[in-house]
Amino acid sequence: EIVKDFFKDSNLFCQKNILITAGPTYEAIDPVRFIGNRSSGKMGIRLAEEAAKLGAHVDLILGPSNESILSHSLLNVIRVESAQQMLDEVTKLQSKIDCFIFAAAVADYKVESPSQEKIKKTEINLELHLTKNPDIALTIGKSKRSDQISIGFALETENLFENAKSKLDKKNMDFIVMNTPKVKNSAFGFDTNQISIYHKDGRILEFELKTKKEVAKDILHEIYQLQCR
Ligand code: C5P
Repeated sequence: EIVKDFFKDSNLFCQKNILITAGPTYEAIDPVRFIGNRSSGKMGIRLAEEAAKLGAHVDLILGPSNESILSHSLLNVIRVESAQQMLDEVTKLQSKIDCFIFAAAVADYKVESPSQEKIKKTEINLELHLTKNPDIALTIGKSKRSDQISIGFALETENLFENAKSKLDKKNMDFIVMNTPKVKNSAFGFDTNQISIYHKDGRILEFELKTKKEVAKDILHEIYQLQCR
């Protein structure tokens, strides 16, 4: 009931600046090839749309995604490809942001020196040297002001709570949204998701399997309650 009333007010996030990272990142191997992952960007896009509907000014920093996005006057979409580009865009906006939502599935590694020319298939084996990508949530978590909120996602296949808790602490998040691809129709690529929210004060909230639009509303409701404290 409370959640229902909450969504009647389209000015709830008025004057709030929300930044959302979403989608995969592509890391170049050469001009035509890349390392990527199967993230669709759906969860982050639904969050951006719902936050704008509630009156927030939203910057959506979006990796390569084919998902269509509702156009809204409060929703600004910035397209990027690599993790480094995503970090650069986040850093540019950092000081004006009230709430960061890190929903992107950032590639963990990038090719150390991508080839300027298309690599020929002359060799039988090809070795790529990979180096770690910057961790965007960690970078912001370390440098954010105490009035800035940060939310992340954890997609785990084992030791769900322990792993989520250590990410929450390490990346200085206010809460982390846990989902597991083991739940049918949940997480990567699907329109539905089953989440739990792990707060930094130790509270754990469990939600049912819902559409990503409804999940987005649950997450925004939690953010609103944090900001009212
Ligand atoms: O460590 P792990 O990748 O599981 O952490 C997931 C959380 O951290 C997500 O919120 C994700 O968006 C964020 N992240 C990031 N930059 C990275 C890796 C993860 O912002 N390079």
